[in-house]
Parts: sequence; C-alpha cells; structure tokens
Amino acid sequence: MDLNLLRQHLIYEFKNENDLLKAIEELSVKFTQNRDHIGDYLKDKRLASAYTAFYLTTNIPKFQGIIPWLPQSWLEDLRQSTLIDIGAGPGTFSIAFREWVGAAVEVLQIETSQIMRDQAQKLWSGLYPDEKLTQSKSSLRDLQGQKLALFGHSANEMGTEGVLNYIREINPDHILFIEPGTKDFFPKMLTIREALISMGYHILFPCPNNESCPLANSVNDWCHQFIQIKQSPDVERLAQMARKDRRLLPLTVQAFSKHNYSQHTKTRIVRVFAETKFSFEWDVCELNQNKHFQIMKRGLSKVTQAKLAFAKAGDSVEVEIEKTLEEAVRVKVKSINHHSLEP
Ligand SMILES: C[S@@+](CC[C@H](N)C(=O)[O-])C[C@H]1O[C@@H](n2cnc3c(N)ncnc32)[C@H](O)[C@@H]1O
Repeated sequence: MDLNLLRQHLIYEFKNENDLLKAIEELSVKFTQNRDHIGDYLKDKRLASAYTAFYLTTNIPKFQGIIPWLPQSWLEDLRQSTLIDIGAGPGTFSIAFREWVGAAVEVLQIETSQIMRDQAQKLWSGLYPDEKLTQSKSSLRDLQGQKLALFGHSANEMGTEGVLNYIREINPDHILFIEPGTKDFFPKMLTIREALISMGYHILFPCPNNESCPLANSVNDWCHQFIQIKQSPDVERLAQMARKDRRLLPLTVQAFSKHNYSQHTKTRIVRVFAETKFSFEWDVCELNQNKHFQIMKRGLSKVTQAKLAFAKAGDSVEVEIEKTLEEAVRVKVKSINHHSLEP
C-alpha cells in the first residue's frame, strides 16, 4: 500500500513526513516504554492516524506472508466467510483480508474506540467506495454463512476473558490470531488455546493436534514465529527514520476451526541456539513433545548449511533420526520450511 495514497484517507492531516514521523515515534514510546498510557492513541486523532499510516502498510504484507502457512482447504473456506475483525482499530486486517480475497467481502468490525471506528470508515470508503463496512455489533444476528473471527494485535489488549466472551457471543466457525510474538503474551495465548479446545475447536496452526502444549511450563521457550516482510521503499524509509525494524518480525499466529482440516506438520522449531563450530542446535516441538535436535555440519554442503543457519522459531522441519543421545536427538534435516523468507 502506497503511503501517499494512504495519507489522503487519514482523519488527521500531517503537514509533512517529519510531522508523521514525530507522531510514530510518540506512538512507539507508548507501545514499548510507557504501557500505562497505551490507550492514549485511541483517543487522539493524530496518533490514531499515525498508527494507521505505519501499521496498515506493514500489516498487509504480514497477512499475505502468513497465508501460505495455513492449511489450503481451510483457506478455501475462509475466502467464503464473513470476517469479524475484533479490536479492528483502523481496519488494517480487514483491508488485508479484502486485498487477499481480491473482491468485495462481508466485513463486520468490532472496535471500542470511536476515533478508530471513524478512521476505519474513512479508510474503507476511500479505498472501496462501493463496498459497505459494518461496525454495528447488532448486525451479528443477521450474518449468514461461515464466520471468521480475527484478532489482530487486539487479544493482548483485551485480555483472555475479553477474547473468550467475544467467541461465546459470536460463535465463529473459524478463528485467527495474529498477535505479538512476545514471551509475555504466550501464557495468555495458551489459556485461550485450552479454552477454545474445550469448546470443541480444532487447532490448525501451529500445533499438529489438540494435545496439551509441551511449553506450558517452560521458563525460557515460548511458541512463536518470525516473518520477513518486504516493505515498499517509502515505508522502509519511514521505518528506518523511526528506528523501527519492520522487516523481520516475531509474531504469534494461532488458527482454529470447528471443523478439522488435514495438516501434515509434525515438527516445528521452538528455539534456535547459537550454532557451534560443528553443529546446529534447536529446541523443537514434535507431535506436542519437547525435544532438542542436533544437526551435525560435517558432510553438509555450504548451501545446506546456509539454509539451516537461517532457521527461525516457528519454521517446520522434516527430519530423519541418526542417533538418540542423552541430552539430544541427532538428526538429518530432510526439508525445512522457512516461514520467514529465504536470505
Ligand atoms: C493495537 S490495536 C490493533 C488494531 C488492528 N487490529 C491492527 O492490528 O492494526 C488494538 C485495538 O483493539 C481495540 N480493543 C481493545 N480492547 C477491546 C475490546 N474489549 N473490544 C473491542 N476492541 C478492543 C483497541 O481499541 C484498539 O483499536
């Protein structure tokens, strides 16, 4: 999404790029250093517009990058679903969804901040003048067909009970979380996962099945993924000026459905340790069990070593066991599916 085009649809008019940059920096301080005032941006048109300019441009490629991780047959059903964007903000993920489908979609946004709702309406009607955007929760009862509930960076703001209350009320067929990849958020995600499973949902990503999570009691590891994003040059410039790395992003993606869809991933990397002279060392989750994999470098081509050196938490792998050691399983990697892009 082009930043100049987007600026025409903001509810606050920035005088110039510097003015926008200042607001992004202010916002960043509120998100990272001063979390007591995290809600301030929801009451201020200037900060809400800065949020829109910065996060819409990065959330669209983020959504596009996540799509290939998810089961294909599930995606076919999602395309037909009504999107309920919960904690929609300016509607960044509603737009990402609309762009992915590539045609008019039914969207209902649920958002508590009036300023964000205004911003979302202005943006949507600017980008899709002939397509309706619904923001009234009372429309829930009129919805036909399958429903996808999407939480984009909002479950961490509304808390686990807030999330589960929405799920109980909406009763969606499908649920997608795209949340921060932080250690702090992980226990909350786990509580939500367990509750959804007990409500009859199947987890489709990142776990291979509904068994309990092996990282539930882990002190150092948490389940998350990385995504590498190519920004347009103007957004890249803005991110550099704001000293924000928006290229390699940690995130927590979890997908659920009332129906089960086939998926084949058995093993996912949980943590990558610094490589040694002789080996790569990873903690993995294999069929909901914690394991430590050791991959010896001897005999591997330079290309293979470069590929393995690029492994990140969240990548899925297929391996062949060479030897079971006391503290590790020595394996040969048959394939690795980098969820972030190749170098
Ligand atoms: C960080 S923003 C994310 C916005 C958008 N989903 C995105 O990813 O760009 C979080 C949003 O969640 C909204 N929010 C927080 N608690 C909420 C609740 N209980 N119900 C609805 N929206 C809520 C906030 O008002 C805010 O707009």
